[in-house]
Amino acid sequence: MPSKSARKKDKNKKPKKKKSKYSAKSADKYELYQLAVQSPEEDIEFLADLYRRLRHKKARHFREDFSGTCLLTSHWISRGPRYTAEAFDIDPEPLQWGARHNLQPLGPAAERATLHNKDARETSDKAPDIRCAQNFSYWVFKTRNEMLDYFRRSREDLAPGGIFVVDLHGGPECFEAMEEETELEEGFSYVWDQDEYWPITSEAKFHIHFRFPDGSEWRHAFSYDWRLWGLTELREILEDAGFARVDCYWEGTDEDGESGNGVFTREDKGENCLSYVAYLVAQK
Ligand SMILES: C[S@@+](CC[C@H](N)C(=O)[O-])C[C@H]1O[C@@H](n2cnc3c(N)ncnc32)[C@H](O)[C@@H]1O
Repeated sequence: MPSKSARKKDKNKKPKKKKSKYSAKSADKYELYQLAVQSPEEDIEFLADLYRRLRHKKARHFREDFSGTCLLTSHWISRGPRYTAEAFDIDPEPLQWGARHNLQPLGPAAERATLHNKDARETSDKAPDIRCAQNFSYWVFKTRNEMLDYFRRSREDLAPGGIFVVDLHGGPECFEAMEEETELEEGFSYVWDQDEYWPITSEAKFHIHFRFPDGSEWRHAFSYDWRLWGLTELREILEDAGFARVDCYWEGTDEDGESGNGVFTREDKGENCLSYVAYLVAQK
């Protein structure tokens, strides 16, 4: 998927290759996904910092929607004994994987996380200071009414002063049928496959494939059936859901003038680029 580093990628720069331990036969798709797609340290730092700057205090309770392997949750509770979290996912498989590989290694601290095998529209045990939906997963909601309902529930469920943060991607490249392969220094390639896009419904099908140095491939390791939402329409739906304020955080540009630099700041207009990743930050 167009990760936060999508615009950062310099396609001419080949990663230094380690001898690879990965092949389609032996690989674990959740491990590969986390390595290829997620940047938990950066994401958690961004979210914690954002809340601190907006509210002049530290967020303590965090909620990760569409959590998959609850990687962000595990990083959140690792911040210290006062940090607690809840993770929501309808699929028990990634939750169980995450409990074993991301939480158990934390020892007793793992008790500060609660994993819910539930729909992301369900209420939290405790109202979160920060609630997030990452990697565009909330695009499973394909109608405006469904999205509005999810956003309304998210607002109501937040603690006073809480923030709800969703990421999104856009730009003309996201409508093109194409496969983008990224070679990772861990010793495998990650392929983002934009398979179908239907302009009348805005529905799109995407897949993730993994390729390995021994020539093997794991096709369709993950598949997504989403609606491609536009930034402006999502912002308006968040406003209609009753959030007091909604801002866009846009990625800055690297020294090469073309790639993103991984630094997201509040902006009003953005920049007309082929592909971008941005955040919408909604304040209760
Ligand atoms: C792309 S993965 C996201 C993994 C991780 N959060 C990330 O940011 O990369 C999407 C996850 O959303 C879950 N999911 C799909 N529909 C859901 C729903 N209505 N409620 C909760 N989880 C859902 C899937 O089971 C899947 O684990």
